[in-house]
Amino acid sequence: MDAPVETRRPPFAAWLSETNDVTKRFLSAGSIPDLVNLAGGLPDPATYPGAEVAELAAAAARDHAAETLAYGTVDGLPALRDEIARRFSTPELRLSRENVLVTTAGMQGLCLVGLTMLDPGGIIACQSPAYLGALDAWRPRSPVYRPFHPDRNDFDPVAALDGARFGYTVPNFSNPTGKLVPVERRKALVAAAHETGTWLVEDDPYGALYYDGPPLPRLLSISGAMAPGPYRGPVVYLGTFSKEIAPGLRIGWMIAAPEAIEAFGMAKQGADMCTSPLCQRIALDALRTGLPEKIRPGLLALYSERRNALAAAMAEHLSGLFDWEVPVGGMFIWATAKDPDFDTDRLFETGLEHGVCVSPGRVFDPAGKDRRSIRLNFTLNPPEKLAEGVRRLAKACAAMKG
Ligand SMILES: Cc1ncc(COP(=O)(O)O)c(C=O)c1O
Repeated sequence: MDAPVETRRPPFAAWLSETNDVTKRFLSAGSIPDLVNLAGGLPDPATYPGAEVAELAAAAARDHAAETLAYGTVDGLPALRDEIARRFSTPELRLSRENVLVTTAGMQGLCLVGLTMLDPGGIIACQSPAYLGALDAWRPRSPVYRPFHPDRNDFDPVAALDGARFGYTVPNFSNPTGKLVPVERRKALVAAAHETGTWLVEDDPYGALYYDGPPLPRLLSISGAMAPGPYRGPVVYLGTFSKEIAPGLRIGWMIAAPEAIEAFGMAKQGADMCTSPLCQRIALDALRTGLPEKIRPGLLALYSERRNALAAAMAEHLSGLFDWEVPVGGMFIWATAKDPDFDTDRLFETGLEHGVCVSPGRVFDPAGKDRRSIRLNFTLNPPEKLAEGVRRLAKACAAMKG
């Protein structure tokens, strides 16, 4: 036999060595037996409208095969773009199909923003802490983060946005903190985007999950009111059906100025050519038949009860160790250790040994430094399991101390 040829290892791109596999680990945590998964941002699968989607899917394939089983246009099904434009228009915000691009869920919207707006090393003005999926999406461009904190008294939106390639915010129930950006701060951010000529990305997967009061105005609507006429402003709105219907549909949308939509389309062409027309048709008919409105009251009742259950369990078991605010919507409670030297990276590992998975704060910190906070999800598990998860977490904390 010939001697084996020495195989030289083919290289990977440099950014891969700077990333982490936490999202993969969250998503696979569900398959560990008896683990209480408080880490992910997952809806309860029991809320997925399986029967309704089955009917819509059958009709989509049977009655619209030439459209749904073919390649679609890059920008999305025209009728779905029209429907989204109609739903998001207000007396002050005039939208048309040219303002809408359908995406393969919200995650692709983030990716397309990075591909079209960032050159290597570009500055991102970023509400901090930030969604780790956004940090993942932009990492290949090695951006420089300029964090901003809209809840702090010294928040200066012009200084935050000026000179950045874009600003990024999740104004409704931020992932990870669950906080709302207050109305006055929304207005100030949008005014600063208009003044500085900086794109402002409004990522809004949780906008339908208000448990305790009416929704605050979107940055997109505020921006529309500032410049009447067909929308050409600096806000780029990202929507998704993942938290309102089901993440497996992988349908989202971007609403922006027509020239931005054109740029996103150029990038999408090289990413996936088009979002599944079958799923787009299901989404269109779901909207036309009012499916989100039909299931929303059940979602709100279920999730607000679970929010209360998690908050109560935390108050019982964690109040000596962590501080937190109970959010008025969304999917998460963000807790910060009272002890500045507490290490939540270690808690992630020790938690797994005790049968509970939480998200460590570091993965949401653009600088990768926060070791003091954790994010707990309350939508996936019923109250008794949330309480069990918190008990296990308290034991894990005790084990770390002892
Ligand atoms: C803030 C934020 N943006 C975007 C997404 C992406 O979701 P999807 O790709 O399922 O629409 C998520 C998912 O959890 C999120 O929390």
